[in-house]
Amino acid sequence: MKNNRIINTVFVFAAIATSTLASCEDPNSPGVEYMPDMYRSPAIETYVDYVYTDSMSARLPVANTIARGYKPYPFENTLEGYEESGQKLKIPFKITDEMLAKGGALYASFCKHCHGPKGQGKGSINHPAYSAVPSYTDETKNRRGGRSMSELEPGHIYHVIMYGLNAMGPHAAQLNEEERWKIIAYVQTLQGKNKTEESDNSDAVVTAD
Ligand code: HEC
Repeated sequence: MKNNRIINTVFVFAAIATSTLASCEDPNSPGVEYMPDMYRSPAIETYVDYVYTDSMSARLPVANTIARGYKPYPFENTLEGYEESGQKLKIPFKITDEMLAKGGALYASFCKHCHGPKGQGKGSINHPAYSAVPSYTDETKNRRGGRSMSELEPGHIYHVIMYGLNAMGPHAAQLNEEERWKIIAYVQTLQGKNKTEESDNSDAVVTAD
């Protein structure tokens, strides 16, 4: 009798073990998971507000974070910012003919249709809003700070590219820093200042201190 009970118990365990092991044969079965959250995190949708009650799941970067490769422009869109950029910003490389050629190509894509092929105004756009595009060689001292177009320094032009001016929109998003300087080097030739010989500002600081 006692032997029979032992045999029965062994048989029952064997049956349970077989059926448990048998379930492992299904390749699609995840089996028994201990704390499934540790294997599979609950999916969070980017712009849905259910994890953080105060805002979306996509969080704002920590204050004062600067994206990799992004260089903040420290001058404000005011007359003071314009004057400061004109004073502090210098073309940060030695101007070569090759750079002027690239600057000229960029000018043709981004500026020529308003400023004209030689920077005299009269580009291909003849909408009344752009009828008064000033010439880069204009010597009338009616620009910001009592300057003439021909007197604009590279830093002033950089500022205009960043923020635009009235009918001219900002071009900061279309041109990276290097492209802006190349265009400026080219615009300087249109102002009648060929800088290839004398300038070597390779040590110049691009942004304010
Ligand atoms: C949509 C037409 C348009 C385009 C494109 C354009 N400009 Fe202008 N730009 C103007 C107009 C109009 C003015 C005169 C704005 C005013 O004085 O009200 C101007 C003014 C300027 C000035 C004088 C700013 C000052 O401080 O007085 C500079 C420098 C200049 N543009 C450079 C550029 C450069 C460089 C590009 C190409 C990256 C460019 N512009 C593209 C229309 C344009």
